Formats: sequence, C-alpha cells, structure tokens
Amino acid sequence: MVEERIVSPLMSNEEIDEQRLRPHRLRDYIGQEKAKENLAIFIKAAKQRKEALDHVLLYGPPGLGKTTLANIIAVEMEAQIRATSGPAIERPGDLAAILTNLQPGDVLFIDEIHRLNRAVEEVLYPALEDYSLDIIIGKGPSARSIRLDLPPFTLVGATTRIGNLSAPLRDRFGVISRLEFYKEKDLVTIIERAASILRIGIDPKGAEEIGKRARGTPRIANRLLKRVRDFAQVDGQKVITKEIADSSLNLLEIDDLGLDAIDRQMLLTIIERFGGGPVGVETLAASISEETSTIEDVYEPFLLQIGFLQRTPRGRVASSLAYQHLNMKYNKNDKQDDSASSLW
Ligand code: ADE
Repeated sequence: MVEERIVSPLMSNEEIDEQRLRPHRLRDYIGQEKAKENLAIFIKAAKQRKEALDHVLLYGPPGLGKTTLANIIAVEMEAQIRATSGPAIERPGDLAAILTNLQPGDVLFIDEIHRLNRAVEEVLYPALEDYSLDIIIGKGPSARSIRLDLPPFTLVGATTRIGNLSAPLRDRFGVISRLEFYKEKDLVTIIERAASILRIGIDPKGAEEIGKRARGTPRIANRLLKRVRDFAQVDGQKVITKEIADSSLNLLEIDDLGLDAIDRQMLLTIIERFGGGPVGVETLAASISEETSTIEDVYEPFLLQIGFLQRTPRGRVASSLAYQHLNMKYNKNDKQDDSASSLW
C-alpha cells in the first residue's frame, strides 16, 4: 500500500532516477544549512589532520537526504563508501566481515541503524571506540578472545527513530545531526535543479506549486515533479506552469498543503470514529489498515510538524487546524487539545 502512495517518502523503483538527481558535493546540497555548515567544518578539520572523520549519526523523517549526505561525506573525505542497513546485518560475523574489509578512511554507511540487533551492536562498540574487533575463538572453557586491529573508519548511521537507538550506541557518535523538513524556497530550488537534470521545462510558479505541496520533503518533490511532467506531456504542454501543476496534483488528490487521500483518511478517522482523539496509534493503524510503524515513520511526522496532530500520552489527537482544513466543526469542549480549557 505504502509503495503506491505518491507522497510516500519510502524507496521505490524510482530509486535510479533518485540517484541521478542526488547532489554529489556539499556545495550542491540545498537546504539543511545547520547540518551542512557543521559537517563542512568537521570534514575540513579531519582532512587537515589527515584523520578519519568522527562517526556521524543522521536522523529525521524519511526522504530528507540522509543517504545523500552519507554519500557526500565520503566524496568530500575522498574516501570509499560501503553501504548496508541494520536489518541486513543479521549476525556478529556479518559485521566482522564488513569491518575487516574496510580500507583506512572508508565511510561505512548503516541505514536504519536502530534495527541492529543487540549481539551485532556489541561487536560495533569496540570498533567505534578504538578501531578494534574482539573475536571469540572456540567454545566452552577453551574459548579465547583475540583482538584484531581495524583501519580507522567513519561510521555514518541513519535513522528515522533516534529514540529506538540504545544509549551506548548513540553515545559513540561524535556528530549527531537532525535533518529538518525543508523550507518551501529550498524545495523550489531542488525542483528546478531536478527539472534541469531531467530536461523538463518548468516555470517558477510551476515549481512553487509543486514545492508547496511536497510536504517539506525533496524525495516527494522530485516524485511529484515526474508525475506532473506526465500530465503535461500527455496534454502536449512543453513547460510545467502553475495551472498544469495545480490541475495534475488535484487529479492525484494531493491538496494544497500536500496531504493525500491517506492523510485525510487518517485525520477523518480520528475525528469521526474517535471523537477527535486521543486514540492509540495501534488502534488508529488497525482502523485504516496500515502498519503502526508506517504511521509513525511516514504519515505522522509531517502532520505533527504542521500542527494537525498532537501526540499525547493517551494517544493521537486531531487539532483545531486539522478540523478547519477538513471543513469539520471543531467543538473545543470535547477535545484534549492545546487550549487551557481542556484542563477542565
Ligand atoms: N535532491 C534531493 N535532495 C536534494 C538536496 N538537499 N539538494 C539538492 N538536490 C537534492
């Protein structure tokens, strides 16, 4: 279901296009000024000292450029990148094989690092701390541990859920960077850059219309651009204008804030079936036939960001803004919303 969702920031078979659109250098990476400025300094300092960059943890909602930044870090450090993911490293031996094949200065990128299992994490600690690997040889009373030296390397970890990372793992990253939803003007620049790479004609108002409806997420912006291009092409238009962008996105049921049919269904379910909330995330997920993790990772972050949804200890609550957007009547007295009157 998620794969078919046009505003889903999860990877799909459009991955190849996405790679073409990815900036390769920090100077071409648009937005995320804070993360970018800090990284530029740490990279420069590490290069001056001829050392590996300290381990970097990137976190934030999907589609904001964590993998892109990991690749850029490797390019800027003039190092190779080895990419894997938390669930792909099943056993300590899998990680040992990866670590012992690293070259000095390499970047090891582990996506979804919160999904590493405990046994694998424990192999990672000494590797991160002092580039060493403890291997147990033999079994029972004759088992012994030998220590192997590893080359200096940089771990770049990415996660959508920093809260699921164990404290000892989190503490071993020297740089922790949170990626934010993009400002509209940055999305417009990203869309114009992508249009030029893909040789799509677009005017500034057309880019603005797509940027406004891309949920602060470059991956979604680029995906919408390609769908709008399809509409323009079939309609015999050479340039994407505001009118074409608007009518195409309306046909795709993406509203003026970038919410799609599933976002609206989720908010409507909270409002109509659960009196505006609070409703537990599991109950909500079951009601709209989605995975709890999909709601938490994909749908919810943007709705929280624009203030349509609130997370409370008793569950999710739709805010007055959500009611307004959906043209529903908001009865303050029923809700556990943001107002002081809810204390009554
Ligand atoms: N394409 C996707 N994300 C981008 C970014 N942050 N900067 C430039 N191009 C991008």
